[in-house]
Amino acid sequence: MPSFQRHVFVCVNERAPDNPKGCCKSRGGVEVRDTLKTELKKRGLAKLVRANNAGCLDQCEQGVTVVVYPEQVWYGHVTPADVVEIIEQHLVGGKPVTRLLLPDQPHLKGDLPALEITR
Ligand code: FES
Repeated sequence: MPSFQRHVFVCVNERAPDNPKGCCKSRGGVEVRDTLKTELKKRGLAKLVRANNAGCLDQCEQGVTVVVYPEQVWYGHVTPADVVEIIEQHLVGGKPVTRLLLPDQPHLKGDLPALEITR
């Protein structure tokens, strides 16, 4: 059984186009998730990091919303162009991507645990 060190949840929730809340799917959630899966595979990290679909994460105005567990790092306004930085800087390097962080995350102090990569 794979033992994932991280789960990256990407909101792909869809709402009707006339819904005032909008949704992450219309902002590119599926493309972010697909890019994440592709880039993890390319780097041989797909057995360590699981890219998960998520329903609404209740941060709709910040979408596309992404959250990394177990360290509970929340990102907003994520695009496919941001995915490599999240992988390299955060997941591999242990440093959150500051410019994408949602506000009010007082638990984020200093570096995060990096992936334990054995090849
Ligand atoms: S629709 Fe993505 S956080 Fe609500």
